[in-house]
Amino acid sequence: MTALIRQLLAAAALCLATGASLAQASTATAEPAPKGPPDGFVVPADPKPGDSNAERARSQPGNNAPMWRAVRDSGLQPGSSSLPGAEQGVLIQPFVQYPGSRLTNAGEAWRQVRNQWLLPYGGSLLLIVVVALGLFYWKKGALGQDHPDAGLVIERFTPLERAAHWTNAIAFVTLAISGIVMAFGKFFLLPVLGSSLFGWLTYALKTAHNFVGPLFAVSLVIVLVTFVKDNIATIWDVRWLVRGGGLLGGEQVPSHRFNPAEKGMFWWGICVPGIVVVGSGLVLDKLLPGLDYLRGDMQVAHMIHAVASVIMMVFLLGHIYMGTIGTRGAYKAMRTGYVNEGWAREHHALWLDDVKAGKIPVQRSTPAGAAPPVGDTPARA
Ligand code: HEM
Repeated sequence: MTALIRQLLAAAALCLATGASLAQASTATAEPAPKGPPDGFVVPADPKPGDSNAERARSQPGNNAPMWRAVRDSGLQPGSSSLPGAEQGVLIQPFVQYPGSRLTNAGEAWRQVRNQWLLPYGGSLLLIVVVALGLFYWKKGALGQDHPDAGLVIERFTPLERAAHWTNAIAFVTLAISGIVMAFGKFFLLPVLGSSLFGWLTYALKTAHNFVGPLFAVSLVIVLVTFVKDNIATIWDVRWLVRGGGLLGGEQVPSHRFNPAEKGMFWWGICVPGIVVVGSGLVLDKLLPGLDYLRGDMQVAHMIHAVASVIMMVFLLGHIYMGTIGTRGAYKAMRTGYVNEGWAREHHALWLDDVKAGKIPVQRSTPAGAAPPVGDTPARA
């Protein structure tokens, strides 16, 4: 049996060999055999994962994957480019996860934090505060009474204090308005103004923002130094807080020169966020020496700046409300520098007691005997 199979296989192999040689003979007679590659042709190397872009262009013309791979990884291993400045070889930053973003390259992560957190939540918070203040005013109206000039006229703010305050206030309002337009303008101004006008306006406000920032920084330091002494908490503040500042009972609770609400605003609405806003703003303005100002630094500085600015604006919206329509006589005190005895008794009774006891001078800025301020009732003992 095995012998029979062997014979059959041998016969089949003979047939195949004969067929192949017949076929070759017939082709040779029909057309000449194809020539090989032209002289000098070098077979391209197979593409390899570590190819340079030049090597890949030879092995697979038109495929520049290595270049794009280098662009993508330039945050980990900088390449070289003709761009000026630091990080010129980093076209795409490495992956990071900023609070609130996905793990993605840093530029995109920053964009996600800005567009998905800072703008919607920051903007909503500011709107909520404006509406809440409006409702409060609607329900309560201006706090306090009108007081006819009688008794002592007390210098509440010296010219230096008022100058520092108003410089700081004007700088802050300029920064707040320009910052709001930069952050939210495209939602409420762009549709109204059109792109050309909105572009010019935003560019002008951004420039103003950059220059007014340092003025705000200097005036903030003066404000902090000027007012810090009277914003230190005392045991009396606890009583004021327990009684809700008089808002619950309707009667003002005695306080020293500044009440605990004003003190809270000083520390948590001005001092702490102010220092953070100014510090991060100086980074964004590239005014602090010794920093590299890389893109990552700027992204982090921007996010901190935005959060602290929103906190500051929330507090200062409340402060501006109370300093204007919210409290009778408060704005006049900061404009002229003087209050009468009735106002002092109603809003800052302990401060008035100290003035009357001679612990605080009635007039602090001018030497004794100088003329009283024009238009105000002279001080009476
Ligand atoms: C248009 C804006 C502003 C208005 C109308 C305004 C109004 C006032 C008024 C009327 C007072 C006197 C309150 C009192 O007699 O007890 C005051 C005090 C004060 N303001 Fe303003 N202000 C404004 C902006 C600012 C800004 C931007 C800051 C700082 C960033 C600021 C910081 C202060 C400080 C520190 C006091 C002293 C009260 C304290 O230290 O607690 N103000 N402001």
